[in-house]
Amino acid sequence: MAIVELKDVAKRYDSMPGKKGGEHANAVEDFNLITRDGEFVVLVGPSGCGKSTTMRMIAGLEHNTAGEIRINGQDVSAVEPRDRDIAMVFQSYALYPHMSVYHNMAFALELKKTPKDEVKKRVQEAAKILDIEHLLDRKPRALSGGQRQRVALGRALVRQPQVFLMDEPLSNLDARLRVEMRAEITRLHRRLGVTTFYVTHDQTEAMTMGQRIVVMRDGRIQQIDTPYNLYERPLNRFVAGFIGTPSMNFLQADYQGDTLRGEGFSCSLNPHQQAALGDAGQRARCWLGIRPEHLHQADTFTGSGRLEGAVEVIEPLGPVTMAQVRIGETLVTAQLAAHLEVQIGDTLALAFDPDHVHLFDIDSDRTLGLETDPAVSAQATA
Ligand SMILES: Nc1ncnc2c1ncn2[C@@H]1O[C@H](COP(=O)(O)OP(=O)(O)O)[C@@H](O)[C@H]1O
Ligand SMILES: [Mg+2]
Repeated sequence: MAIVELKDVAKRYDSMPGKKGGEHANAVEDFNLITRDGEFVVLVGPSGCGKSTTMRMIAGLEHNTAGEIRINGQDVSAVEPRDRDIAMVFQSYALYPHMSVYHNMAFALELKKTPKDEVKKRVQEAAKILDIEHLLDRKPRALSGGQRQRVALGRALVRQPQVFLMDEPLSNLDARLRVEMRAEITRLHRRLGVTTFYVTHDQTEAMTMGQRIVVMRDGRIQQIDTPYNLYERPLNRFVAGFIGTPSMNFLQADYQGDTLRGEGFSCSLNPHQQAALGDAGQRARCWLGIRPEHLHQADTFTGSGRLEGAVEVIEPLGPVTMAQVRIGETLVTAQLAAHLEVQIGDTLALAFDPDHVHLFDIDSDRTLGLETDPAVSAQATA
């Protein structure tokens, strides 16, 4: 049972590779989040955006240089890592090679002088949950990658902590095993209900696992929201492009009255979008964002949005085919029918529904029109 609270948390390293100092020298800045008890929170963002630093501050392995971290209301700044009742699982989980699986899992408890019976009980319980009971006598070198990862999870599980911190725990596994293990971790969380922070740079992992997702960039939170809201109502162009595969397409567009247009495309705007652009001032330019799954072949779809260009790439994936169409400097990706009768070099006419268009400020990249959308949560900042 734990509620973890981060208030205005920041981390500044004295010297940071690739950064010159000044206002953007912080590895993490203005981090604000209050978990629910038992929540599964995912931190996602590109490499170097501050995910691990945030985790290490929660664990107490790094001191935050500003702000406050509270666990169940208690400020933990003076609490040693081992007394925070937190268990971590890392990408490089380094099992002790000379110890059996049993002793790898029991080690932390034995250090704390936990009674032998209790150690045995907890290791066996964890092994059962993780389906590694039959491996307890083996040494790590006799395990597959997936089995080793389970042992690393088991090592955290036996400690029965009030918070789990998992930092890219699946990155060393191959794609198939990663998909399997992420479902396993989700099941584990449902069963144990322990508040969990999970770090990944993989948006699919974030979307499938997180109850709430914190999207980070350059040490700053971009948006905190549910998977659905991140996809439907990204607060800025970064989040819009980061969440969803293949990524949202972006085109610079000019607008006039009720029409948005650019080289090779045009669409009429709904009243809500017109109002949003009106609020943007005198500027006649904005970013148009449209997801690949919202582009359709024009002869099979009626929608006022039109886009036309030469096909440069065709990728049949089985259930769908991805086509990339040249629009000026940009290659626009469209998710089309499996049996696409189009050749490279053909001109392809695409159509879309303007209601699926996202609009962004040309300078700030902020999403336009969100303030008039009552469903948007106001907690996050761009
Ligand atoms: N011990 C350190 N000393 C100096 N800079 C660091 C240290 N650890 C991380 N950084 C820097 O802090 C930023 C965030 O790093 P990190 O939290 O590891 O990112 P992520 O886990 O999202 O990839 C990066 O610019 C990184 O280079
Ligand atoms: Mg990291």
